[in-house]
Formats: sequence, C-alpha cells, structure tokens
Amino acid sequence: MGTKRLDKFLSETANVTRKEAKVLLSKGKVFVNGELCKNGDSKVSETDEILLDGKKLGAIEEFLYLMLHKQAGVVSATEDKKDKTVLDVVREQEGEFHIGKRELFPVGRLDKDTEGLLLLTDDGELAHRLLSPKRHVDKIYYAKVSGIVPEDAVERFANGISVGKEYEAMPAKLEILNISLQENTSEVQITLREGKFHQVKRMCHEIGCEVTYLKRLSMGSLQLDNNLPIGKCRKLTEEEIQKLKEDIR
Ligand code: URA
Repeated sequence: MGTKRLDKFLSETANVTRKEAKVLLSKGKVFVNGELCKNGDSKVSETDEILLDGKKLGAIEEFLYLMLHKQAGVVSATEDKKDKTVLDVVREQEGEFHIGKRELFPVGRLDKDTEGLLLLTDDGELAHRLLSPKRHVDKIYYAKVSGIVPEDAVERFANGISVGKEYEAMPAKLEILNISLQENTSEVQITLREGKFHQVKRMCHEIGCEVTYLKRLSMGSLQLDNNLPIGKCRKLTEEEIQKLKEDIR
C-alpha cells in the first residue's frame, strides 16, 4: 500500500476536508506513533498508529468493503429525492468505519421491499466483476410466496424458465423448504446466476406464485452474517474479501 500524506490520510479517514485536516494538525490534535505531529506533509503508512483527539483512526485501506443487512423500505441507491437510501443507513453508523471522502456505492440492487445481504464498496473493479453477466456469481435468496409451488417448478427453474416474452432465465436452482396447505403459502430457496430486474419475483410469478417476502442470503462466497442485526452494517473480514476476489478471478 505504501505511504500517504498525513493530511490526505486524515481527510479520508476522519471525514474532513484537506483544509480542516490542516487545522486539526495545527491545533495539535494529531499524534503519530505517540508523537505530536503538526505537519500534513508527513508520510504515514498502514503500520503507523494515528490518533485524532485521542481516538485511533483506522489503518489505511485502499478500499472499504461493507456488508449491510438491508431492511425493507430503503432503496439501493446512493441518493434519492424521496426515499431513504442504503447509503443513508450506512452513514448513520459512520463513526465505526470512517467513510471519509470515499465514494461508496451498493454492488447491485435489491428492491425496496427486499431484505438481506448488500455489499457496499468503493472498489469499482471488484463491483464490476461481481456484477458482470459473464461471471455468473451465484446469488441465493429465501422467499415466502403465496400459493403452492407446483411440482414441476424445480425442473422448470433448472431448465431455464421463460420470463414473460422478454427473456429466458438462466438455469436456476429452486428448493422447496416448506409448504403450508392451510395458509396456501410456500417457502423456497432460489439460487440465481444472474441478476435481472425483479428476477426472483418474476420467475415465481411464472410458476403461479407471488413473492410476499424476499431476503438475499448470499452473493458468491459472501454470506449474510446471522449476527448482523437488520439495518446494520459491518466491514468485511480480510478472509471474506479474499474469497470474494477468488470468486471473480
Ligand atoms: N429479485 C427480485 O425480484 N428482487 C430483488 O430485490 C432481488 C432479486
């Protein structure tokens, strides 16, 4: 990763402008490895311990990777005139991971009413590869649907179901988890290798069922952390990042 100017590091990790960083430095608020440092030109590296107002700033990372347990009611966008966005949700937790000046964005979209795993990053290359139709990264969803999933649906999904007149979906795996004859509902798990608009909902519609609840459980090797409360995010672990990179190699 090499070294970075201290004022640049501060602006990236403490969510301040370069000018504000200089003021903080001149006021003696910054310590590098235990020594007061007022010089923004100083070079720092990821092994340095940098304190701002006595608080340790995260080590320099080239990119930030966040897992969000998306709740229903927020849109997968960076800004929106009407609705709360996933970026707004992440910013509410900002203090924990220093977004700074990073331009984070969601990797792909979940519908407003869909819950579950959403990756946010500023690593454009990784995002591009994960979403590339050529790479077919598996996405696993849990869905509750109205109606009883017909017996031939598993085979239809496996063969590539036609979605309206528009396209034929790639082969997908449909697992029937539960059927309630009493409530006339089914629970299913669906593995898709592509990510077209409303795809799960539209595929279920083709087999005569309507999705009433949808949650994404995984994307490639990245699985939704069961301990992550809904509406919260956390940084990916080094291992999760490496595995994702292997998925798209
Ligand atoms: N398929 C859908 O229909 N909606 C989503 O949010 C994701 C996949």
